[in-house]
Amino acid sequence: AEIPVRKICCIGAGYVGGPTCSVLALNCPDIQVTVVDRNELRINQWNSEKLPIYEPGLEEIVKQCRGKNLFFSTDMAPALKEADLIFISVNTPTKTFGLGKGRAADLKFVESCARLIAEVCDRSKIVVEKSTVPVRSAASIVNVLKANTKPGVSYQVLSNPEFLAEGTAVNDLKNPDRVLIGGEESEEGKKAISALSWVYRHWVSADKIIEMNTWLPMHFLPNESQALMPYPRFVRQPVPMSVKWPRPSGSIPVLDPKFLQASVGWGGSCFQKDILNLVYISESLNLTSVAAYWQQVIDMNEYQKSRFGERIVQSMFNTITDKRIAILGFAFKKNTGDTRESPAIHVAKHLLEEGAFLHIYDPKVEKAQILLDLDQLDEESGISIHTDPYEAAKGTHALVICTEWDQFITYDYQRMYDSMLKPAFVFDGRKILNHSALTKIGFHVETIGKRHGQSFQDHNWAGTNGI
Ligand code: UDX
Ligand code: ADP
Repeated sequence: AEIPVRKICCIGAGYVGGPTCSVLALNCPDIQVTVVDRNELRINQWNSEKLPIYEPGLEEIVKQCRGKNLFFSTDMAPALKEADLIFISVNTPTKTFGLGKGRAADLKFVESCARLIAEVCDRSKIVVEKSTVPVRSAASIVNVLKANTKPGVSYQVLSNPEFLAEGTAVNDLKNPDRVLIGGEESEEGKKAISALSWVYRHWVSADKIIEMNTWLPMHFLPNESQALMPYPRFVRQPVPMSVKWPRPSGSIPVLDPKFLQASVGWGGSCFQKDILNLVYISESLNLTSVAAYWQQVIDMNEYQKSRFGERIVQSMFNTITDKRIAILGFAFKKNTGDTRESPAIHVAKHLLEEGAFLHIYDPKVEKAQILLDLDQLDEESGISIHTDPYEAAKGTHALVICTEWDQFITYDYQRMYDSMLKPAFVFDGRKILNHSALTKIGFHVETIGKRHGQSFQDHNWAGTNGI
């Protein structure tokens, strides 16, 4: 590398920073990686036996690298000072007040990182923006750094958006379909880009590393002429037709089938926040129809979640007051313990409002987190959290599947049925179970995306797929 990268510091030990730096440390034994966070509890957890987040394969990597070339610390200043390259991967939540409230991304944490970097660093560095941020954030980081830089120090700011999905983070990071690196078009900018590119080339082949100027790798704002929005979150090939850079000839943006599974609704920290942000930016640019389009995506998702809750109540003879309902799965998707924006929260609240008693089980979500998400201090208010799915099901009127955990598919449903009140219901919000087998056992089964209730079985519903 033209600029040697021996030490990397990453600010933010969350779902992005933690896995990213672990995979980086694993693949770059010649680089020392220090992940810093102001949250002491989180850092202590990263340094303990029980990591603060669950991702398949992550624990093994952390155990292998921790203390060798991977460190977790709350002591930010020294780590920043000695780093050649700094990743910013702090959270960028939706603003809850002020201009853009409820829609715009709040960049206050990113800005405070830039201020801290400028304050403590006394030699030049590369600063890499990794948080999910709207277009032009790199420019604001540059501005904050420039206005506060110590004499003789200069910064190159790169944009390197993350594409990992929770639940598959380790695999996504080990085998990315692409790595986008954007920077300034100057000589210095190009040097910085090639330094970061050198880091990735430790394990990613050069043809997957796409170098460009800072604006391009950011989330493209669609314009009305583009039918399929070239928004990296949704489109496998995030290349707008109007932009020329190396892409397989003739390739057109297509939706990956892994994004086409019907569900009780999408959740997670990214989709809601990014779409709201897109609505906000579109509105700011007077792209009214684009803004309305994306707002409708949010509205449809809210509708999907509510509709599922309503379906449960309707199917159970229009009342669930004092009925016991087991919720299987609370995370926003399988293979994670994350509940941010999880549709399970929405469904659970709906059922609580209707007066049901909930028995909740999730293989990875902590009890305290579930109670917090449901605004409860303890289990006394109609909610029990279980560590065993059969215990959760026992004595209930219905099972509600909210997360597509693989283990749910292979449970002994006969055993659950035998322990439940009759008629026993299954509401499969992820369409993962064997519905005819459940019906044979005696369950009344309802799912999303297709009709399956026993009352419909005599009819030929072909062609009326959907609810
Ligand atoms: C997403 C993007 O996939 C990833 O590329 C980006 O870097 C970060 O945001 P993530 O939020 O972790 O990743 O999860 P994703 O797998 O996209 O799922 C989001 C939500 O949609 C989940 O609640 C999931 O259960 C739901 N979903 C996903 C569906 O309901 N149906 C699908 O077909 C896919
Ligand atoms: P993401 O999903 O984007 O990784 P997380 O919330 O999981 O988001 O992680 C972001 C981390 O960044 C949190 O652990 C938070 O404590 C940390 N963080 C936010 N702002 C700062 C800051 N100014 N300095 C240090 N750490 C920060």
